[in-house]
Amino acid sequence: MNNPYLPILMRIEKVVIENDARDLKTFDLAFVNESDRQNFQFLPGQFAFLSIPGAGEAPFGIASAPHEPLVKFTVKRVGVFTTALHELEPGATVGMRGPWGNFYPFELMQGKDVVIISGGFSFTTLRATIAHLLLPENRKNYGKITAIYGARSPGELLYKEELKEWEKRSDLELVLCVDRLDGASWPQREGLVPNVLKAVAPKGENAIALVCGPPVMLRYTHPVLEELGFAPENVFLSLENRMKCGIGKCGHCNVGPKYVCKDGPVFSYAQLLNLPPEY
Ligand SMILES: Cc1cc2nc3c(=O)[nH]c(=O)nc-3n(C[C@H](O)[C@H](O)[C@H](O)COP(=O)(O)OP(=O)(O)OC[C@H]3O[C@@H](n4cnc5c(N)ncnc54)[C@H](O)[C@@H]3O)c2cc1C
Ligand code: FES
Repeated sequence: MNNPYLPILMRIEKVVIENDARDLKTFDLAFVNESDRQNFQFLPGQFAFLSIPGAGEAPFGIASAPHEPLVKFTVKRVGVFTTALHELEPGATVGMRGPWGNFYPFELMQGKDVVIISGGFSFTTLRATIAHLLLPENRKNYGKITAIYGARSPGELLYKEELKEWEKRSDLELVLCVDRLDGASWPQREGLVPNVLKAVAPKGENAIALVCGPPVMLRYTHPVLEELGFAPENVFLSLENRMKCGIGKCGHCNVGPKYVCKDGPVFSYAQLLNLPPEY
């Protein structure tokens, strides 16, 4: 049996600076060993730990879709590990262990409209979800796909080039919004994600909503989804609790009886209603 604590080796192929403050970077990683590439199977929503000797390890949502050749992570520099990662250049090697956790409910979503709502840099696993759903062999299985994605300012939106491509598509309604303009010219909407959701008003019947964002956005998004007719069992959120082992052993990530690393990180709103009140 494979040791779940043993990282596999990944080489940094490309680093993209995502924002003007340079504290958000996307790392495209290639497998050093072909056998690891073949064994690595995942679905959007899952996460993996990245590690650097001497700097430790930390969990990150997988931002690439399964069909994409490189494994992508978008990382905000906040502390010891993320600062060490931000200092690495293409060619450097890092460890990766995973994929861990569950994924978005792709089976349940079949035949239904899908509404994707994200604020800030949590867009990562939802970016992977959109790329996955847009594959021709998958796209035909879903109804209307609406994605509402907001950032504080235009410069803070992730994956800017790809967003431009997605805006041109007729099989995806992509709605971008920013909290403030900072003097930039911006042809899209200005406003907070919950207000923009209200204005776009996707139908809640026969639809699934996937939501990822900072707690304050989540708090104000739920009532709007309820107004639009989304039942709690059809709304899915991804949690980012602090983690140590990632495999349900250490108890660092638990919320009531649930381990976020093993039972999540994706939970339905109906499940979260039964957990302690911080959720
Ligand atoms: C399932 C999951 C998916 C994640 N996906 C991403 C992602 O795609 N991109 C990304 O940038 N980050 C993501 N994170 C958060 C990321 O794991 C933390 O930012 C990282 O562990 C910080 O490591 P560090 O050593 O740089 O910070 P540290 O030096 O450990 O801490 C720096 C500061 O950040 C705070 N902090 C650290 N971890 C967390 C956390 N989980 N929640 C709240 N505050 C925290 C600390 O309290 C401290 O104030 C995810 C976390 C989880 C659990
Ligand atoms: S991180 Fe160890 S039990 Fe979840």
